[in-house]
Amino acid sequence: MLMNIPDIIIAVDGFSSTGKSSFAKMVAKEFSFLYLDSGAMYRGVTLFSMESGWIDAGGKIDEPSLKAALPALDLHFEADGLHMGERCIEKEIRTLEVSSHVSPVSAIPFVRSWVDERLHAFSEGGRVIMDGRDIGTTVFPNAELKIFMVADEMVRAQRRYDEMVAKGESPKLEDVLNNLKERDYIDSHRETSPLRKADDAYVMDNTHMSFHEELVWVLGVIQGKFGILEAPSLKW
Ligand code: DC
Repeated sequence: MLMNIPDIIIAVDGFSSTGKSSFAKMVAKEFSFLYLDSGAMYRGVTLFSMESGWIDAGGKIDEPSLKAALPALDLHFEADGLHMGERCIEKEIRTLEVSSHVSPVSAIPFVRSWVDERLHAFSEGGRVIMDGRDIGTTVFPNAELKIFMVADEMVRAQRRYDEMVAKGESPKLEDVLNNLKERDYIDSHRETSPLRKADDAYVMDNTHMSFHEELVWVLGVIQGKFGILEAPSLKW
């Protein structure tokens, strides 16, 4: 029998490529939670801006045009991932090109409030696990469980590199590492909701952890926090 976890909101934050989405997807599957990938929304807005010609070669963003178009933009999740209108954009939003523009786009305050609003609308009803950079600090400051994920920089770059290669891309490890460092810096130094650990978040360093160990770890945290004595039986 599965452990009976209450209808809570779980916020998962952390640096780029710490395995937040794999972890959150696994927890969602294990305990029947809705999984929401907030980074995908920022990536979707970035792809939309690039395709509209609002990011120039130097990376400058045409903010007035983006601001005017955002209210009509339809980004939503379906079973196969993020959609822009009818089109599934899950693959396009993961390219290095989108990754190289996403941090400046996500630092724009009106973009952040638009994404936050959408995330709240998607989460209505609760029982949600959401990953990102500011979920526990800004989007859901009252989330019942907050997790902050960290991992060694080289291990993170290798993970992202392997993910891209598996998708048929051929990036250079050095470029992936540089992009990761740059995003860490911009994400944690921007003015609006910078990436930081919420005071009440539990820190998970998964540099040397398997998925199974992550699941055992989170179960221990949940059992301790919610006083659940029942022994879980895991699918993983
Ligand atoms: O998790 P990810 O790498 O897909 O996120 C892409 C970018 O979006 C990341 O560099 C920072 C931004 N982001 C953010 O600012 N706030 C969030 N809650 C999620 C992502």
